[in-house]
Amino acid sequence: MLQMAGRMKVLGTETAFEVLARAKALEAEGRSIVNLGIGQPDFPTPPHIVEAAAKALRDGHHGYTPANGIPQLREAVAADLLRRHAVEVSPEHVLVVPGGKVTMFFSILMFGEPGVEILYPNPGFPIYESVIRFSGATPVPVPLYESAGFSFSAEEVLAKITPRTRLLILNSPANPTGGVVPRRELDRLAAGLERHPHVAVMSDEIYGEIAYDGAEHVSLLRYPSIRDRVILLDGWSKTYAMTGWRMGYGVWPERLIGAAQRLAINCHSCVNAAAQFAGIAALQGPREPVRQMVAAFAERREMIVAALNALPGFRCARPGGAFYTFPNIAGTGYDARALQSKLLEEAGVATIAGTSFGTFGEDYLRFSYANSLDAIGEAIERIRHFLGNLSGSGIK
Ligand SMILES: Cc1ncc(COP(=O)(O)O)c(C=O)c1O
Repeated sequence: MLQMAGRMKVLGTETAFEVLARAKALEAEGRSIVNLGIGQPDFPTPPHIVEAAAKALRDGHHGYTPANGIPQLREAVAADLLRRHAVEVSPEHVLVVPGGKVTMFFSILMFGEPGVEILYPNPGFPIYESVIRFSGATPVPVPLYESAGFSFSAEEVLAKITPRTRLLILNSPANPTGGVVPRRELDRLAAGLERHPHVAVMSDEIYGEIAYDGAEHVSLLRYPSIRDRVILLDGWSKTYAMTGWRMGYGVWPERLIGAAQRLAINCHSCVNAAAQFAGIAALQGPREPVRQMVAAFAERREMIVAALNALPGFRCARPGGAFYTFPNIAGTGYDARALQSKLLEEAGVATIAGTSFGTFGEDYLRFSYANSLDAIGEAIERIRHFLGNLSGSGIK
């Protein structure tokens, strides 16, 4: 009998991939599915980025690179952070990794073990809780409230810190809610963290460039008093439509970068060389493709929020960033998982149940609006039709 390690039993997953597989299976049967489930830009990677990777291969960049990433790329990351956040980062503190997720995995493994508590957002990206459990640590949810635009309250976060807390995970702009934590809340949090020097912070800012209505994305790197224990998670996947390239980076404080590099050497050695050259082109190239993509998301956001609010039983807050909306669907009379399943199987619309993002998501569905206005319009019509057929059946 093969016996896996006990920790394998607690490893979770990302339902988005399961919904995607089911949607593809239904399509293969000839069904028409509108996919508002998947969390990736529907735009192609800008051509100058693709060309940089092709050129790198033609130029013979086919070997290993330094484990932490080629120096020119790490310098480009530092320059980008200076441009976006007005913070000085040493390229020596940048660790280029295959996707945003790796910084999350490494920081949780670095701090998590039995007896330790790790705070994480709920509803939040499901991999946080999964890897916390995998590490043996205890996940302690930080609730995000619809009434507060899905921000946390700094007071509440600070009150959850105990002597056993080693890591606090933050995510703004957020998946699945689109919430953006206001600067005043971050100011309060950073000030309060000064009283808890044993707590490191992993700030997932992968949607940092996708914010609307002038909503300000404030990086945790901007707080000097806690800077020596902040790990920044960022990457290319969302900003440059590069999810399949597997390109991300962490900025690690001086006392953690060595351990993070050792994890990288033990895990993946280095990131695909050609993709790293593409990463340089993305950071140093024209900003226009990013601006255009964000403008398209902004237009879709207007449309989908209004349309969801007009559906019976739905109530949809206006997200400040990312490309998700997280309407409250309690008024439909369905629980989230049942509605997810009905919408996919009967209405042909893929969405993700809020419970996939934690216990506090049970009254919600996540819609990704990384799809065309036409596709979103079609999805809304199908849902309206589906709910209409239920009239008199308990919709509140
Ligand atoms: C909040 C958040 N962090 C990290 C990631 C992972 O990004 P990547 O695909 O670069 O690993 C995602 C992807 O959906 C995300 O939503």
